[in-house]
Amino acid sequence: MSPHPSSAADVRQAEFHFRCIECGNVFQTASQNFRCASCGDLLEINFPAWKKSGPNPETLKATWLKRRISTCAADLSGVWRFREVLPSLENDEQVITLREGNTPLYELTQSARITGVKHLLAKHQGMNPTGSFKDTGMTVAATFARQAGFHWVGCASTGNTSASMAAYAARGGVRSLVLVPEGKISWSKLSQALDYGAVTCQLRTDFDGCLRLLQELVLRAPVYQLNSINPFRLEGQKTLAIEMMEQLGWKPPDHIIVPGGNLGNSSAIGKALIEMRELGLISRLPKLSVIQAEGANALVRTLREGGGKRLIPVQAETRATAIRIGNPASWKKAVHVLQETGGTCEEVSEVEIAQAKAEIGAEGIGCEPASAVTLAGLKKLVKQGFVQREETVVLVLTGNLLKDPDFTIAFHRGELFSEEEDGDAKRALAKLRRPPMVLDATLDAVVGALERVEGS
Ligand code: F0G
Repeated sequence: MSPHPSSAADVRQAEFHFRCIECGNVFQTASQNFRCASCGDLLEINFPAWKKSGPNPETLKATWLKRRISTCAADLSGVWRFREVLPSLENDEQVITLREGNTPLYELTQSARITGVKHLLAKHQGMNPTGSFKDTGMTVAATFARQAGFHWVGCASTGNTSASMAAYAARGGVRSLVLVPEGKISWSKLSQALDYGAVTCQLRTDFDGCLRLLQELVLRAPVYQLNSINPFRLEGQKTLAIEMMEQLGWKPPDHIIVPGGNLGNSSAIGKALIEMRELGLISRLPKLSVIQAEGANALVRTLREGGGKRLIPVQAETRATAIRIGNPASWKKAVHVLQETGGTCEEVSEVEIAQAKAEIGAEGIGCEPASAVTLAGLKKLVKQGFVQREETVVLVLTGNLLKDPDFTIAFHRGELFSEEEDGDAKRALAKLRRPPMVLDATLDAVVGALERVEGS
């Protein structure tokens, strides 16, 4: 086995530049806020050499497969394994990695029955090192931050970005600053940032307020921002889709369904799909659809009321705190990839989210509330006929079950919703609940409990 990262003879890592998504201006370097110097819109990373001749798709597939038995750090990463389609590094051995990616694609047989879809899978990004999809983006962005010579990185977060950033910064010997909305992120996520040594500020505002402040801060202080406005994050997150296609034998599913918050992840997945088709890695595009919580539905409203042309921000409120975002930064990128892939956008209620989360849990898989919007959304898309029963669907589960135990326990104890909120779903929810029982420590008490459950 090679001690050095392996490369195919005729494929190199990709030379890249930054391109404004609005005016198309191209830049060799990006400013601290990752915005276009001409019009102020977001930048994306492009690979101009691919226009002339992209890398050979069969060579890429063979190279990536070969790396699965390599022992060097960059090959063991499920992100850097695909480095020919990522921005090029000065040196492969500089990567900051926790062996992110390499996440499972599970069959969801019970949920398939519930939704009526024949072939339903879950790409579980909650199986990443810090428990969320953020790690795939963070390994790339943190590596470039260190390569650029920064001593501080920073992010605004609903919890997962901060946990991930703090871990990668610590691994890379860089200090990290976290801005989170006070009282609005789960303790698990907050505890991760603390344990990994981040300087953590709980601000008396919401996520959107934290992000606004960070945008100003990075223009004043030498802090490298690691929110998904940073296009290096999205490059890393692209690998979720590449790895998924590899797991499916390069046969695209009909639909990919992803939760939407700040809309970086959907943009990254869409970019990957479009690039994979351009490079000849896949022959057609799956439809990429985004699901939001009803109380944080800026993209839904932007598409329905604004025709996808202007953002309609909302005052966000949802128990799925990871996606409690009202002013999504990457909305334009997301609109573009939904239109390009023929996907759609839907919203789901708090009860629908909780029910779907319990259903995914009952498959022995589990996820955090924000991830469960995907299953709840799929039910709606099947009813609407947008997803056909014989089609193959992949749900992207973005966060681990252990990320938000308070939500799970409140649900099972029946304390998450009021009687009225349960509404029509009362019986379905009751069937899913498994409240813990406090009993005397006697055999009779435990046998009695078993009998009651059996008889119910
Ligand atoms: N699912 C989970 C578990 C998340 O943590 C997030 C976002 C999303 C979905 C939405 O992804 O923002 O790319 O559309 N969490 C961010 C954070 C905002 O700070 O952890 P998105």
